[in-house]
Amino acid sequence: MKILVTGANGQLGTELKKILEATMPSVAIYTDVDELDLTNAKAVESFVVNNDISHIVNCAAYTAVDRAEEEKSLCAQINIDAVKNLALAADANGAKVIHISTDYVFDGTNHRPYRESDKVNPISQYGTTKRKGETVLLALSPEAIIIRTAWLYSAHGNNFVKTMLRLAEKNDEIKVVCDQIGTPTYARDLAAAIVTVLRSHQWIPGIYHFTDEGAASWYDFAKAIFRLAGKQVKVKPILTEDYPTPASRPAYSILDRSLIKATYGVTIPHWEEALADCMAELGAAK
Ligand SMILES: NC(=O)c1ccc[n+]([C@@H]2O[C@H](COP(=O)([O-])OP(=O)(O)OC[C@H]3O[C@@H](n4cnc5c(N)ncnc54)[C@H](OP(=O)(O)O)[C@@H]3O)[C@@H](O)[C@H]2O)c1
Repeated sequence: MKILVTGANGQLGTELKKILEATMPSVAIYTDVDELDLTNAKAVESFVVNNDISHIVNCAAYTAVDRAEEEKSLCAQINIDAVKNLALAADANGAKVIHISTDYVFDGTNHRPYRESDKVNPISQYGTTKRKGETVLLALSPEAIIIRTAWLYSAHGNNFVKTMLRLAEKNDEIKVVCDQIGTPTYARDLAAAIVTVLRSHQWIPGIYHFTDEGAASWYDFAKAIFRLAGKQVKVKPILTEDYPTPASRPAYSILDRSLIKATYGVTIPHWEEALADCMAELGAAK
């Protein structure tokens, strides 16, 4: 087994590298845009063939959800064209692909957790390009595994946890949206699930949903961050309409995690326990 991990400097890529280096040392090659720009089709194919890659885990993406409404072309190049390049390169060397997608492929009008078979209807450029990335991949690599996740955070990179901790340094009161519901997900837990799939003796292609357990609003998430950090910040709940952003976001995007649990036996912590672990790693827990 020779694994290529792309987007290795991102939140998920960093966590995946940590786990793979600890549990399966020397099995993977880690690249980010400086070593291998995934929008360069020829470079991607040569890299995969020359290194005789057997598995690709694509953690790379364009993830700036609001900026994507302006940078449409760049977002499409990374979330669609680069995925196509990976699929073609995988085919050239007979490699298997695990690709990561998002809850933002849904419009958020559901009233029960989204299953893999539910109708997609992205409402942002980011969501639209991620969905197109899924369809391009499944058309070229029907054997691929796609894992949709949501609300990722980690000690590394930019995310909601770090933004809240930064805001708490200078504010006594912070307004946070309370009418968008999802599941905060520690990138460490998704990385562990990916490793479970890689180490499994079975490879069952298709789409899977993975987030940490439970559900929360951004307001609940912020309150938990401040409680764990021992910060006396007042969190004021506001509505999405009072916090306009360039990109629309699904009001409800809980993902049903049953399929990945039943198929691969992954164990998933509750988001509040996972958050406590991340806060401890950040040195931010009281
Ligand atoms: N973050 C979330 O809340 C969230 C939610 C749902 C799903 N997801 C999905 O989960 C996956 C991992 O997300 P993440 O939060 O770990 O993302 P991230 O931290 O933004 O990392 C993505 C990495 O991809 C790299 N990259 C960008 N363009 C590239 C290119 N052309 N070639 C090679 N690498 C390139 C980025 O480099 P630069 O930083 O230099 O651009 C970055 O290091 C993505 O598929 C994302 O769509 C994320």
